[in-house]
Amino acid sequence: MKILITGANGQLGSELKDLGRSYPQSNFIFTDRTEFPLDAVAGTFTRLDDIRPDIIINAAAYTAVDVAEEERELADKVNHLSVAQMAHWCESNQAKLLHVSTDYVFDGESDTPLPEDAPKSPINVYGQTKHLGEEAIIRSGADAIIIRTAWVYSAYGKNFVKTMLRLMDEREEIAVVNDQIGSPTYAKDLAKAILTIIHSGKWTNGIYHYSNEGRISWYDFAIGIREITGFSCKVNGISTEAYPMPAKRPKYSLLDKKKIKDTFGFHIPTWRKSLEECLNKL
Ligand SMILES: NC(=O)c1ccc[n+]([C@@H]2O[C@H](COP(=O)([O-])OP(=O)(O)OC[C@H]3O[C@@H](n4cnc5c(N)ncnc54)[C@H](OP(=O)(O)O)[C@@H]3O)[C@@H](O)[C@H]2O)c1
Repeated sequence: MKILITGANGQLGSELKDLGRSYPQSNFIFTDRTEFPLDAVAGTFTRLDDIRPDIIINAAAYTAVDVAEEERELADKVNHLSVAQMAHWCESNQAKLLHVSTDYVFDGESDTPLPEDAPKSPINVYGQTKHLGEEAIIRSGADAIIIRTAWVYSAYGKNFVKTMLRLMDEREEIAVVNDQIGSPTYAKDLAKAILTIIHSGKWTNGIYHYSNEGRISWYDFAIGIREITGFSCKVNGISTEAYPMPAKRPKYSLLDKKKIKDTFGFHIPTWRKSLEECLNKL
């Protein structure tokens, strides 16, 4: 089985690279932004014709959520137009597509865990482009799985956990938003889930939600990081209004994971257990 992975140097892509070594029966082709540039939309078909994958795992994305407010066109190329081309190629070539999307396709106003068919209403430009990517995949008729995830972190790349470690080391006191609720996703757990789906023989197309188990705020997450690492830095809870950002953030991001657990028989680790694993690695 030939598996093409885009965004190989991102958080998810890097974890897939590590875990891919446990599947010697598969031929993984890892590509970065020079080998497979998603902003060069018109070249997508040619690149895929050259590689001819059986499955594409699209781990690449334009993820600069705040900059996207000013760079809509580029974000749209990477998160929507290129994804539409991939889906079209998969449909025409009997290949499968596993695409990763986001809780930002919702408006964040729910107060109960979000099922896959909850009404979409993207909260910001990044969310709009990811939403259009999802819609293009569905319209293409490709044999595709879309996994929506949230609050992704890893030992690789830039993320909340690594920022907290730096700030807790540098400062005596920090402020963290305490009124946005969700559950983090350790990219290694998501990578494991993706590779299990692909190799399980249980491939069932559709949309799925995945994050670690639990329900916390960013403040709770920071406290967890402080407790596990033993930093003495004081963590103060603040409201979203006290920490303005260019792109709007959802108040509530908790994803309902029943469908992915029932379909593939997954046991999903709690956010705390996975955070401990990541911090041990760091
Ligand atoms: N991070 C989160 O909190 C979060 C939350 C919800 C959903 N997601 C979704 O989860 C997936 C994985 O995210 P992640 O956290 O692993 O993201 P990430 O660490 O930002 O990685 C994204 C990757 O995409 C690559 N990329 C960006 N622009 C590209 C382009 N024009 N052409 C080719 N590659 C390009 C980046 O390349 P470089 O390494 O060269 O920059 C990077 O390797 C994405 O679909 C994202 O939308 C993420």
